[in-house]
Amino acid sequence: MLDISARKVKGLSAKLADEVRFLRNWAEKPLTTGAVSPSGPDLSRRMASFVEAERPGPVLELGPGTGVVTHAILERGIPQSRVIALEYSADFCRLLARRYGDMTIVQGDAYRLRETLADVEPGTLASIVSSMPLFSRPKEERRALLMQAFELLQPGAPFIQFSYALVPPVAPDPQAFSVQRTGWILKNLPPARVWVYRRTS
Ligand SMILES: C[S@@+](CC[C@H](N)C(=O)[O-])C[C@H]1O[C@@H](n2cnc3c(N)ncnc32)[C@H](O)[C@@H]1O
Repeated sequence: MLDISARKVKGLSAKLADEVRFLRNWAEKPLTTGAVSPSGPDLSRRMASFVEAERPGPVLELGPGTGVVTHAILERGIPQSRVIALEYSADFCRLLARRYGDMTIVQGDAYRLRETLADVEPGTLASIVSSMPLFSRPKEERRALLMQAFELLQPGAPFIQFSYALVPPVAPDPQAFSVQRTGWILKNLPPARVWVYRRTS
């Protein structure tokens, strides 16, 4: 009994430490961090539910932060050794490296995806899961990021993105890609939706 309580307290204090770290990163770089606290478990699990676990190949996570979505990806059955995490913040990278020792962690800029991940063979990624705060950038840059992502993904593989906005983070272009969206995940604060993009041409 005592043991369970001790574990609970440890878990809660780790969660609180993550919240504080997140808030500090937001205070230093609000546009880059893009939120005041990590995503909740419902949103994280919904994002991970679109990862196609049966597809072979690496899963790329963009903007893992403190690792809540990472945790959901691993829970979906993807081993750490298949996950590449690309994160801008050195502080978050250090934390992720401590927590997920078998994962490939790259510190760099997702807007320069092809350059940053020059070692990744085009057309090989099984899924991309992105928590990037896309709305802090102009629409041309958001689209350019998606187009670079499609070059790295296997044909038809998903680019999974969440946002708090009413409009899609990258405007639909049926000639080039399909867009699927979920309903609002109301248990998340603030409520969010998940958008799944797949290249069609
Ligand atoms: C809204 S937070 C999401 C963090 C976490 N995945 C979650 O859902 O709680 C956005 C994350 O994207 C990272 N980020 C922002 N711009 C980036 C960029 N250009 N390249 C890589 N990571 C970036 C931030 O440092 C931050 O960790």
